[in-house]
Amino acid sequence: MHLKKFSPEDIVDVEELEKRSFEVGPYSREELVDLFNFPGAFNLLLYDGNRLAGYVVAVGLDEASANIESIAVDPDLHGKGIGSVLLKGIEEEMVARGYRVCVLEVREKNDQAIGFYNKHGYRASEVLENFYSLNFKGSRHGLRLMKKLA
Ligand SMILES: CC(C)(COP(=O)(O)OP(=O)(O)OC[C@H]1O[C@@H](n2cnc3c(N)ncnc32)[C@H](O)[C@@H]1OP(=O)(O)O)[C@@H](O)C(=O)NCCC(=O)NCCS
Repeated sequence: MHLKKFSPEDIVDVEELEKRSFEVGPYSREELVDLFNFPGAFNLLLYDGNRLAGYVVAVGLDEASANIESIAVDPDLHGKGIGSVLLKGIEEEMVARGYRVCVLEVREKNDQAIGFYNKHGYRASEVLENFYSLNFKGSRHGLRLMKKLA
C-alpha cells in the first residue's frame, strides 16, 4: 500500500470508488475534479498496487480550521484500518499547514462514518437540519463534527 497525491490520471479510479462508496449522492466526475482542484484543497490517495483503496480531500475554511470534504474506502476493504490511515494522514497535513481544528459534515444516519469519526475523537457540535438535498435512510439532516488537532 502506498499513499500519494491526486493526479489527473487518478480520476477514473476515484470516480469508480465514489460510486461504489456512496449509495446516495456520489460526486460526479466533474464535481470530483473541481473538488481536487479547489484553491486550498489538499488530498491523499491510498493505492494497493494498481487498485485505489481509498481517498480523502480536505479544504481550508479559515486560518484556524480545515474541512474534510470527502473520505471513502473501497467497500470490500472496510474495517481494515484504511480509513484511519487516510484520516491520520490528512490530520497531520492540516497540522503542518497550521490548522488547529478539523471540521466535517456527515449524514445523521451514517452510523458507520459517525462511529469511525467518534473513534478518532470527533464530537458533534451542531445538528444541520435538511442539510442534504437527497434522503439517506429517510433523513436529510446532517451533523457537524469537530476535533481539535494536536
Ligand atoms: C467511514 C469509512 C471511510 C471508514 O473507513 P474504514 O477503512 O472502514 O475504517 P477503519 O477500518 O479505519 O475504522 C473502522 C472503524 O469505523 C467504525 N465503524 C465501522 N463500521 C461501523 C458501523 N457500522 N457502526 C459504527 N461504527 C463503525 C468503528 O469505530 C471501526 O473501528 P473498530 O474496527 O475498532 O470497531 C468507510 O466506512 C467508508 O468509506 N464509508 C462510506 C463513505 C462514507 O460514508 N464516508 C464518510 C462521509 S462523511
